[in-house]
Amino acid sequence: MKDKVIVITGASAGIGEQLAEVCYARGARVVLAARNAETLGALAKRLGDRAFAVPTDVSKREDNEQLRARAIEKFGQVDVWVANAGRGISRPVSQLTEADVDDMMTTNFKSVLFAIQAVLPHFKERSRGHLIAVSSMLGRIPFAPIRSAYSASKAAVNSLMTSLRVELRPQFSGIHASVVLPGVVATEFGNNALHGGPDSRSFPGAQPASEVATVIADLIEKPRAEVYTRPQLREMAANYYSAEDVSEIEAGFGGPPPR
Ligand SMILES: NC(=O)c1ccc[n+]([C@@H]2O[C@H](COP(=O)([O-])OP(=O)(O)OC[C@H]3O[C@@H](n4cnc5c(N)ncnc54)[C@H](OP(=O)(O)O)[C@@H]3O)[C@@H](O)[C@H]2O)c1
Repeated sequence: MKDKVIVITGASAGIGEQLAEVCYARGARVVLAARNAETLGALAKRLGDRAFAVPTDVSKREDNEQLRARAIEKFGQVDVWVANAGRGISRPVSQLTEADVDDMMTTNFKSVLFAIQAVLPHFKERSRGHLIAVSSMLGRIPFAPIRSAYSASKAAVNSLMTSLRVELRPQFSGIHASVVLPGVVATEFGNNALHGGPDSRSFPGAQPASEVATVIADLIEKPRAEVYTRPQLREMAANYYSAEDVSEIEAGFGGPPPR
């Protein structure tokens, strides 16, 4: 990790902020991106001269392009891009509006596509690089009905990243594409969700953001296709996808989230 240039979106808070701390502590140069310029600037200052803040709205293609350009201008290269920025929703499927769906798909899905398309030419020139999308367990098993379009947007991210991996493998085996699948994490995610909703920190067993950040930092050091941030989540996915009738498992959904 030492001296690697790591772009982290959603670095102004939660998982992204913790990841910036861990990567910096391991010797990386970090490019911090989010909309809140003031918070980002303060974080860059706190970390030190290997940190650089670029105010960015990931839902805009041109901002992703600018982020890549400024990272290369500052540090000469990008080694890793962590597409972490995202937002939840608290509204069941039966009540979703088109605006809700557009918001979820733009913020969570198109942002990952824009990131890929912004940095991939640079990775291809160098025949190496690592793209990491922070998805969600809800993209694999949508067990929380109020997250509806959010879960769908993260399922789309999982699918996009698999397609990218398969596309790259024949010619660009040095470029990695990974998906991170957290369960509930103790951040402002719930409070920031579209239409409000329960505070993620109020769920018993919510995983500390620092633990998730460590999982992602380890992934940067040892690339893999997918990582669950807790072993129980992998077991849950295995059980769900091997069930003969998933409705029996779904009967237990809607309760407290898996730890
Ligand atoms: N917390 C959980 O329970 C949980 C579980 C599974 C997956 N995740 C995923 O983990 C990722 C990080 O979430 P978190 O828990 O750290 O949430 P958070 O505390 O709400 O932080 C979200 C971050 O994303 C940034 N962001 C949101 N919209 C953006 C935009 N359009 N452009 C640029 N930055 C944007 C926010 O910064 P600004 O407001 O400054 O732009 C902030 O830095 C998300 O992709 C989320 O879906 C979270």
